[in-house]
Amino acid sequence: MTVPNNLISGLIKEEEFAEVPENLVLMAHDVYKIYQTGEIETVALRGVSFQIFQGEIVAVVGPSGSGKTTLVNLLGGTLRPSAGQVYWSNIKQDIAKLDDRTITNARRGFIGFVFQVDNLLHHLTAQQNVELSARIAGLPKTWREKRSTELLEAVGLKHRTKHIPAKLSGGERQRVAIASALMNNPALILADEPTGDLDLINAEEILDLFKELNEQYGTAFLIVTHSQLIASKARRTLELRDGIISGTHDAGVHLKQLERTRVLEVDNQDRLPLPENILRELGHPRRFQVQVDEGRIVLTPSIIEDAVAVEVRLVTCRICGKLVASNRVTCPNCGTAL
Ligand SMILES: Nc1ncnc2c1ncn2[C@@H]1O[C@H](COP(=O)(O)OP(=O)(O)O)[C@@H](O)[C@H]1O
Ligand SMILES: [Mg+2]
Repeated sequence: MTVPNNLISGLIKEEEFAEVPENLVLMAHDVYKIYQTGEIETVALRGVSFQIFQGEIVAVVGPSGSGKTTLVNLLGGTLRPSAGQVYWSNIKQDIAKLDDRTITNARRGFIGFVFQVDNLLHHLTAQQNVELSARIAGLPKTWREKRSTELLEAVGLKHRTKHIPAKLSGGERQRVAIASALMNNPALILADEPTGDLDLINAEEILDLFKELNEQYGTAFLIVTHSQLIASKARRTLELRDGIISGTHDAGVHLKQLERTRVLEVDNQDRLPLPENILRELGHPRRFQVQVDEGRIVLTPSIIEDAVAVEVRLVTCRICGKLVASNRVTCPNCGTAL
């Protein structure tokens, strides 16, 4: 699948959104997010670009603090980027500049959220929770009942429709949350560590369910995860590190051996993130010489720094006898000129 060149490089103009591929669901383009807390600025995302296509399952992995939750909230329009664009295919627009109300209306029926901590209303039954978003949207009761029954059946909770969340297990609550996210038949489900609180068996069930829903409804999924299980079901995995996409992987990723399948992508600003493990292995060099060798780019840690470094020895101060670096003009101990 190729994306027109004008979408890959440079800022996208509104009229060019008309040219995006038919099956594109969502696109982030050079997205930055800076949080301001009093005097302190945290750059959570520093230029993230990627696309999600219809029916794709995309996993996002990365250490804590790498910007995963920020990314999910930006894509879902509950947070605004500091710079960059978030394109939603349903309205064929960059949502970053739309007002909250327009975004909320556009989100309904386009994006469903599944959070790590379930956000079910404790006084409503499973079925009422599932129906809630459609009720808010003003959809007719008969339609709501039919759809929520069908979804609760799809997530294997036909026998639990009248239970309140307190009477359901963690896995069951998560399934209610998934059914809720699907109520308005979204093109995309955004899930932030959906199985984080669950044991392995539940996690596996939830994943099979995602896969089934993906096949049945053609829903695309973007799932933030630390779970090998989830990642193994993804068609693509994005690695986040310090707010940038530091690598991508095709299907069949192993989270403990990311270096085996990692593909580096030059971003819109011609930046290429170097894998942390390789830098560590080389002793964290900061400068490289770059050569092209038969179509390969060869990076050699630069030795220029060593060549220009001033040789520093230790000498003894003739007055106080302290050992002093030879590049000092005066002795830091007694002030004698060296
Ligand atoms: N509301 C916020 N205000 C200030 N800093 C934040 C806020 N949310 C997240 N951050 C910071 O942004 C960075 C990315 O956070 P987050 O997106 O939650 O990462 P992850 O989900 O990968 O753990 C972290 O350094 C975090 O401390
Ligand atoms: Mg997070």
